[in-house]
Amino acid sequence: MGKVFGLLGHPVGHSMSPLIHNDAFRSLGIDASYHAFDVRPDQVKEAIEGIRALGIAGCNVTVPHKVAVIPHLDKIDEEAEQIGAVNTIVNEDGCLIGYNTDGRGYVESLLEETNALADKHVLMIGAGGAARGVVTALLREGIGKLTMTNRTLEKTEPLLQLAREFATDAEAIHKQEAEGRLAEFTIIINSTSIGMSPNVEEIPLSLERITSDQVVSDLIYNPLETKLLKEAAMRGAKTVNGVGMFVNQAALSFQHWTKQQPDRNRMKNIVLEKLG
Ligand code: ATR
Repeated sequence: MGKVFGLLGHPVGHSMSPLIHNDAFRSLGIDASYHAFDVRPDQVKEAIEGIRALGIAGCNVTVPHKVAVIPHLDKIDEEAEQIGAVNTIVNEDGCLIGYNTDGRGYVESLLEETNALADKHVLMIGAGGAARGVVTALLREGIGKLTMTNRTLEKTEPLLQLAREFATDAEAIHKQEAEGRLAEFTIIINSTSIGMSPNVEEIPLSLERITSDQVVSDLIYNPLETKLLKEAAMRGAKTVNGVGMFVNQAALSFQHWTKQQPDRNRMKNIVLEKLG
């Protein structure tokens, strides 16, 4: 039997990860398979023990287990530690190492559309788990300034603290203020679920003051173009949807497991076809 990889999540039925990883194994001639495992929240510890006992070579971890798996692993990579969440496990001869490729995956998708981030002023909408991955990776890459906005403003505090550790200028402001100061931001990123299917008519922030030299990005990829991105495009701004992040995090996990580069365009086409 070839190597076995998997996804730990709950639920996992609609995940596209098995499709893209199994296709990548096949196309690179790697004898391995990838399976989705539905793990109940009270069974996370047993699932990790199962990886060891069965010799599963590696896993992805998704909602709601990205934080819960951490105490059961042997080593946590520095970036995953900063994010406080793991989305990738590598089984190195019985030693389970946790990584997080979500944030880096997103930054790489942004860099496909914009040049260096060093002088960019980023507005991050939302302060949950997804924001944490992306903001951490942006700070590691190096940005000019970070402004955060969130329904519950206090929840931005840990990320503002992290920005201070990176000596990056950072602040948190209310949504109304962000809307008024919209022209200041070079890149505006939505990390909340506002606009996600089936609530496609919702928008996290008014883009009335957007201009064509700004970038608007959404981590959501279902729908592909959220109302936020449609409005941005209508007003001439550049847009970045969440497909690149999904594909790149998968590709980076794949590289951790196999030390080989999967074809990211092939992965992207599978996702786009599946999303219709
Ligand atoms: P994820 O892992 O997807 O980031 P999360 O950690 O639950 O999920 O974070 C959800 C984010 O979306 C939070 O920033 C949340 O705002 P609060 O911190 O105020 O809860 C935001 N969010 C979700 N639904 C929202 C809504 N209807 N209006 C405004 N913000 C919302």
